[in-house]
This record gives sequence, C-alpha cells and structure tokens, in this order.
Amino acid sequence: MAVAALTDLAVEVAPGVHWVGALDPHLRSFDIILKTANGTTYNAYVVRGENGVAVIDTVKEGFADDFFRRLESVARYEEITTIVLNHLEPDHSGALPELLRRAPQARVYLSTRAQMMLKALLKPSGEKPPEYTPVTTDDTVDLGGRTLRFLHTPYLHWPDTQCTYLEEDGMLFTGDIFGCHFCDERLFNERVGDFRFSFEYYYTHIMRPFRDYVLDALALIEPLDIRLIAPAHGPILRHMPRDYLHRYRELATPRLFNEARSEKTLLVFYLSAYGNTRRMAEAMAAGAESIPGVRVSLYDLEGGDAAIFTDLIEEADGLAFGSPTINGDAVKPIWDLLSSLTSVNIKGKLGAAFGSYGWSGEAVRLIEDRLRGLKLRVPVEGLRLKLVPDTDELEKCRSLGESLARHLTGRIEHRELDLAAIA
Ligand code: FEO
Repeated sequence: MAVAALTDLAVEVAPGVHWVGALDPHLRSFDIILKTANGTTYNAYVVRGENGVAVIDTVKEGFADDFFRRLESVARYEEITTIVLNHLEPDHSGALPELLRRAPQARVYLSTRAQMMLKALLKPSGEKPPEYTPVTTDDTVDLGGRTLRFLHTPYLHWPDTQCTYLEEDGMLFTGDIFGCHFCDERLFNERVGDFRFSFEYYYTHIMRPFRDYVLDALALIEPLDIRLIAPAHGPILRHMPRDYLHRYRELATPRLFNEARSEKTLLVFYLSAYGNTRRMAEAMAAGAESIPGVRVSLYDLEGGDAAIFTDLIEEADGLAFGSPTINGDAVKPIWDLLSSLTSVNIKGKLGAAFGSYGWSGEAVRLIEDRLRGLKLRVPVEGLRLKLVPDTDELEKCRSLGESLARHLTGRIEHRELDLAAIA
C-alpha cells in the first residue's frame, strides 16, 4: 500500500478536532536509551467549542514551525481560550513558550505537580508564567458544547502527567501512555504499518517501572466511553481503542504467582570463578530458607543473561547479589543484571550483597552502593570473605541469609544491650 503524503495542514480527527503535531521520521534514539527504528511523532491536538478553542500539548522545540503552521490552518490565535498540558517533558512543551506569546489570553490547565515544572520551563525566557489552573480528576473546562474533563494519572512516566477526556466525543488525550515511537504519515492505527512491537517496547521501557500507576490510571479510564485514544506519540488509536486498554492491563498485571501468596520471596544471584562465592550463596540461601515464610531461589548467572530474570525480579521481595572481585570491581554479568533493574519497579525491595575475593574485595561495597542508588532497602551489611570460606565463615553466610529472611518477614531480631558493658 502506498503511503499517502501527509498534508502540511492540520489533520481532522473528528469534526472540530484536529491533529496539529509533527513528524520526526529520522529519529533513531529517544532520550539516548530508547531505540526508535521508525522515528516518532509529537502529537498535539486542537479542539473547537462554541465558546473557544483548546490546544492540547505542543511539540518538541525544533518542530515548532510544523506545529504552528498546522495550528494556524484550523484556528486563529485570538480564539484560543485554553491550553492543556498533559505532560511537560520538552518533547511536548518545546513550542509552549512561543504559543503563550502568540495566545497570551489563553488559560493553561495542568496537574498540580506540573506547576513547578511550568515555572522552570519558562525561566530561560524571563517571562512570567501565564494564567494557569491546577486541575485534578473530574475538574472540567466548558468550551461551549464540548467539555474537557481531567483525570489525575501521575507518574506516567513523570509526576506531572494527566489525561484529558473530551466527554461528548469519547476521546481521551493521554500524553505518553498508550503512545509509542512509530512515525507513519497515515497517522491512524488502522491505516499505519504494524506497530505492535513498538507499542509493547514503549510500555516495557517507559511505563513498566510505574505499573502500579498504570493500573490506577486504567481504573479511572476503563469505565469511560472510549471511542478514540489520542496519545502524544505514534498512531491515533481510533480502531478498537479498548483493545489497547486491555493490552495495557495485561502488561501491567503481575504475571507470576507464588503457590503460597503469604510467602516472601528472596532471589539469590551469583557468579563464582573458583566456587567460593557459590559456597557463600548456598550457605546464605540455606540460612534464609530456614526461616518460615520465606521462599528462596538460587541462580548462577553463568547460566543465563539478565533478561530472563526480569519478571522474577519484578515479583520478588528481596534480591541478593554475590560477586567475586576482579580488577577491583564486581563482574560484568552482575552489573548487567543491576542495570536491568531500572526497567522494573524495585523501589522498597530488600537488597544485599556478598562475595569472595582474593586481594581487595571492592565488589560487595560497589554492589551495595548501586542497590541503595536504585532505592532498594539494604538493611544488612554485606559479607565479603577472603578466598575459601571456612566453617565459621560459612556460618556467617548462613546468618546473613537468616537475617535477610527475618527482615523480609518482619521478624527482625532485637539485640539485647548489655548496659553494664556500655557503662
Ligand atoms: Fe513523550 Fe515523557 O515525553
């Protein structure tokens, strides 16, 4: 099928609703870390009511000319009464300062958490912030025959994010959620090429760490009459839009279930050059296993790369990492696994480190620092042992495992202080 050239003008989404975004087909990575084989789009929309015009989001600064040209094809600046900011990351707010200059009478509607970001965004221009109204769920703006209703949907994927529902048309303007990096001039989901890989890749890399917030948002969105989803990137979802809600619910729902839901789970990952860190891991696992209510799993990373453990890690309550020290560092498979943790929600999980070493033994401290940086709790000091662990040292490993398990179950041992010794 030939790809029709996109007009330079706005594209009608429905009578009185237009796409005024921009295409960025040559982008090959987004925010440095995200691959964008098909480029991306920066979607912005115009909604016309009897009493005024609303602009929903803008585009990346370098694409402002495209945005203004399309906007001018469907509205005059003096008609704009309302500017809705669903998300202030620069790929959506880049043209905002200029839009505010051209439509100074417009009132801005944004989430409570976005207020400080708006001020920071306008700081370089030296201009005072526009008239704005912070909004939350069920606040509305009457455009005359058309009503915008706001949904408080934070952390998708920044604290400021919200969705905006056009009640009379059943359209949901969602910001990044339900979007993807996929540039196709045909714009609408039933016309563009197959973008399923990009939709899921986007969820995995942008939304997955915030899946609890995704589920909260779905609880607000699913009861609505949804006839079209208008995200801030990628195809506009007008054909079977509820399928995309269903897919998000599937993706965000925990997919692994312990046989006994009351159990806490501890995963122990290790690598071992000469079997010493392995012996430590086994003793630690045995110690943890001895505490009722804890299920322990032991994994030798030499037998698998990081990706296969992602689901397990997302569901686990505690994570322990064992590494020898080689050239003053933990070994690469451990770092690979630790770097993969940024793609899942691990905040508040318990973390620990251990390892055998020959000369300097930095690995344990380095892993602990990384775990704390990722916001895991590290309540028990890691254990590093020189070369081959003897019986007493293996008992220390066992104690470390017991202690971690007690922290997981909430049965933390309390030391009795010898007051005479303190005195
Ligand atoms: Fe598309 Fe979070 O910006």
